Amino acid sequence: MKKFPEGFHWGAATASYQVEGGIENNDWAEAAKQGTVPLCGQACDHFNRYEADFDIAKSLGHNAHRLSLEWARIEPEEGQFDQEAILHYRRVLQALEARGIEPYVTLWHWTLPTWLALSGGIERKDFSAVFARYASFVVNELHTEARHFSTLNEPYSIIINGWLQGEFPPFKRFPLLDGFKITGDDVDSKKTKPEWLAPIKYFTLANILARAHNEAYSAIKKISPNTKVSIVFQIHVFNDSGSLYSKIISYFENWHRNHRFLRMVINQCDVLGINYYFSSDVGSKKVYPKTDMGWDSRPEGIYEALMLVKRYQKPIFVAEAGCADAGDSFRADYIKATVEGICRAILAGVKVEGFMYWSLLDNYEWAYGFAKRFGLVAINYATQERSIRPSAYVYKKICEDNGIVE
Ligand code: BGC
Repeated sequence: MKKFPEGFHWGAATASYQVEGGIENNDWAEAAKQGTVPLCGQACDHFNRYEADFDIAKSLGHNAHRLSLEWARIEPEEGQFDQEAILHYRRVLQALEARGIEPYVTLWHWTLPTWLALSGGIERKDFSAVFARYASFVVNELHTEARHFSTLNEPYSIIINGWLQGEFPPFKRFPLLDGFKITGDDVDSKKTKPEWLAPIKYFTLANILARAHNEAYSAIKKISPNTKVSIVFQIHVFNDSGSLYSKIISYFENWHRNHRFLRMVINQCDVLGINYYFSSDVGSKKVYPKTDMGWDSRPEGIYEALMLVKRYQKPIFVAEAGCADAGDSFRADYIKATVEGICRAILAGVKVEGFMYWSLLDNYEWAYGFAKRFGLVAINYATQERSIRPSAYVYKKICEDNGIVE
């Protein structure tokens, strides 16, 4: 029996652009119009169906839910905030509260309003101030509806995909990496722009995003000192395989890919959100089964991911971990192994407060469009019909038992 601390938050995550539908004024929608990424269109129509979707989450035993707000809806023009959009999100948060589901709100999950992307995006000199202004506006409006606000999601995914690999807006790629596969994808170089300064940008953009988080943290705290503020950071674990060489390389990789950034923001985090998808074994050729993304299936690695951040002594919530599995043939085992890994980390002294499976619904998987299926709930995009996958019931039992009861 693997019991979790009382009050542990069990739920699932989504992100606005991936599920809401009907968003036409951000950088991804612009790219889709130009044929650089797949169209998102109505996605899961979650914008209109959120109540029914939260009913499903409730029926599945969830007591927490991570969602993001669409910056382009809230600030459609620079400095102009849309009260209708705020009203919508207020209703969304109230719908969660009515069902006894604790919201974890992410202010920015990758998509930028078109005006911001056109005026330089995160490379704009005043980006951190622009982001802090947006963050403080939202928290001022919504802090009575939610206790947890994360500033931004996965800084390195933005940088690696947008400036090194050319998969995300602004589609820049470092030409010397052509032919190498960082995430297992081939880059279509016709749709991308060469960025020879990418290795320098990698560091400067990371600094910009850290500053954006820190300024937003201060701005939010001035408005609402009791709001719990976090960043959501994807941990990529590098394990050594015993040799001195692998120890040196994995130490360097863990510092450079994880700790370097975390050290810039950790003092401005009340809580830390972590996402976990990847572990690498340095100097080992061990082969793992693959998820539908072509990624190694290593859910148990969440233990090492959590141990890696133990040193920061912060409360932690797992903001995402999950797998694409259209056939639902290994998702239940993936979830169980994830939960066991979290349990081991808690026993080893990591203060984990919640786990949000990625994702509640099948959704728009960025450059892959709708092909990949991460959901506990399957979506028929032609009819918008929802069907609960069998693995969702395995997770439901875990949520209701507050752990794994064998
Ligand atoms: C992102 C999600 C994405 C998931 C699966 C995470 O890094 O936050 O938006 O859908 O990975 O690729």
